[in-house]
Amino acid sequence: MSKQHPIILGIESSCDDTSAAVLIGRKVASNIIASQAIHTKFGGVVPELASRAHQQNIIPVVDTALKEAGVSKSELSAIAFTRGPGLLGSLLVGTSFVKGFSLGRNIPLIEIDHLQAHILAHFIETEGLENPKFPFLCLTVSGGHTQIVLVSDYFEMEIVGNTIDDAAGEAFDKAAKIMGLPYPGGPLIDQLANDGDSLKFDFPKPKIPAYNFSFSGLKTSFLYFIRDEMKKNSNFIQENQKDLAASIQRVIVESLMIKLIKVSKNLGINEIAIAGGVSANSALRKAITDGKEKYGWNTYIPPFAYTTDNAAMIAITGYYKYLRKEFVGLDFAPYARAKFKVNSKI
Ligand code: KG4
Ligand code: ZN
Repeated sequence: MSKQHPIILGIESSCDDTSAAVLIGRKVASNIIASQAIHTKFGGVVPELASRAHQQNIIPVVDTALKEAGVSKSELSAIAFTRGPGLLGSLLVGTSFVKGFSLGRNIPLIEIDHLQAHILAHFIETEGLENPKFPFLCLTVSGGHTQIVLVSDYFEMEIVGNTIDDAAGEAFDKAAKIMGLPYPGGPLIDQLANDGDSLKFDFPKPKIPAYNFSFSGLKTSFLYFIRDEMKKNSNFIQENQKDLAASIQRVIVESLMIKLIKVSKNLGINEIAIAGGVSANSALRKAITDGKEKYGWNTYIPPFAYTTDNAAMIAITGYYKYLRKEFVGLDFAPYARAKFKVNSKI
């Protein structure tokens, strides 16, 4: 790989994955992710444990990313890091680390918004995959966020719709928890659903105005349904695990698609991308791909490696900011909440 291009080290520590990646130009030279198994038994991410695990992981992860890429610290053009949104304690580990690294080695810093990065992951150079064309719509679905974003340029993004309560990933994880599955339940539901009957059970889909989403009602109706069935048959979950997984997955995916189709029609935009952890879901990937024939969409589905949290997406966003010379000093603090609000005029 030519080193004539900028070499960006990306660092991600917003939730429960510690990740470092090296990009040479738009190509990934390494992308190392240390996931934190410690949360599994708690049924969700425990913030304090996440911070401690980041502290243990960050140096070895960065070291491995540089070694695997065959890049030395002195060759780095810049360090791109997640400033927010996310868990403050987790973000503090990453931001403190990059401040020290930048100061010690005199390497410029680039701050990255985690949600923008999920979207810009589509611009990582990947053989056989085209980049979305502006303007496109991106359904960003993760454990913390569920948004439809109108992307007019690399950093011109408007949120058209948002969840008013739980995120789609949370809906998967909570349904899994109700079924007695460990955290994160999304991938397990996906697996079980493979052999299940998605029409066996039905759950009411939320009716929320405009392009917004809601998943907390679905969680409650799933919980009550299972509680009532378990009273009649204590083996209900065991006997219906696959069908329950397939059915709840269908309802979540349909709820997402209803709004995405509406926005696409109303704005007349047929360039459709998905991003975030839930974009790894096979039913959602299929529903989006089917949109090619059904709605004449051009669809963009990220490789699995760039769906859930990873530093390659931070580094590619850093690459575009590097071209614009958008650096930051050392006097910043991380932010926990999303910076961008819904534009309800769209
Ligand atoms: O983007 P991400 O890694 O972290 C956040 O920024 O939140 O997303 C994690 C979420 C979790 O809720 C996880 O259950 C969900 O993505 N997820 C999935 C699948 N893979 C990950 N949900 C459904 N199906 C999957 N295959
Ligand atoms: Zn994420």
